[in-house]
Amino acid sequence: MTEAAEGRRAEIGVIGGSGFYSFLSDVTEVTVETPYGPPSDALFLGEVAGRQVAFLPRHGRGHHLPPHRINYRANLWALRSLGVRQVLGPCAVGGLRPEYGPGTLLVPDQLVDRTKGRPQSYYDGVRRPDGEQPNVVHVTFADPYCPAGRRAALSAAREHGWEAVDGGTMCVIEGPRFSTRAESRWHAAQGWAVVGMTGHPEAILARELELCYTTLSLVTDLDAGAEVGEGVSHIEVLEVFGQNIGRLREVLFDVVGRLPVDRDCLCASALAGQNPGIVLP
Ligand code: ADE
Repeated sequence: MTEAAEGRRAEIGVIGGSGFYSFLSDVTEVTVETPYGPPSDALFLGEVAGRQVAFLPRHGRGHHLPPHRINYRANLWALRSLGVRQVLGPCAVGGLRPEYGPGTLLVPDQLVDRTKGRPQSYYDGVRRPDGEQPNVVHVTFADPYCPAGRRAALSAAREHGWEAVDGGTMCVIEGPRFSTRAESRWHAAQGWAVVGMTGHPEAILARELELCYTTLSLVTDLDAGAEVGEGVSHIEVLEVFGQNIGRLREVLFDVVGRLPVDRDCLCASALAGQNPGIVLP
């Protein structure tokens, strides 16, 4: 049963990707409203390693939301309004190098945005339906991911015998189609490591809300460029994700336990010296 979010709190958020529609076993399901409209689904609250966690299926249960129609602003806002300050955003990606084959876990340290006009800021000066009007704010984004979160992800994966790749650039395409072979070869030639469809604007919106954000990208295919054959299919992505979901879930549990309780990273003060003009939840 879904309950209103009143009085419900969580400190860590997990946004599950393709093939990842549930995370915790003993949960309270809550609905959260935001000034940006509804998030992808209800949020599922539970406890992991003594920490309060909120899980949100990014594409909605049953995967009804394609990457370009996800309400990223509502998702991050909803998490923050529950008290969340650290977010883990696991996602399925294509590998852009032959050595990053299916089953590789990579913790990116950079991203390149190749999406096309997704709303990617809370501070766009546009009056919201609730009458609030944000100021224009420019946040530092040189390093899009939380350093403490990345360390926690890498050490947790290692502990589980999954030697995750430390760093690499995630290229985020608009989707929902996969890349052509030419696009894929071009992405690879730039030196980018993996390609996905949801890493942007999730990371920047988290930063704009002073949330720590870490992504763990699970390679499900070798995209179009590196592959011989017909190229990647959604069925293949879901199949490989399904094969790895068990250990990814275990690693994520462990990451939750390793996230610092007190944040001393730059994410926590991303708005310092600027006036957002709206009250953050
Ligand atoms: N998600 C999983 N595999 C992908 C690929 N090859 N391109 C974009 N997003 C993906």
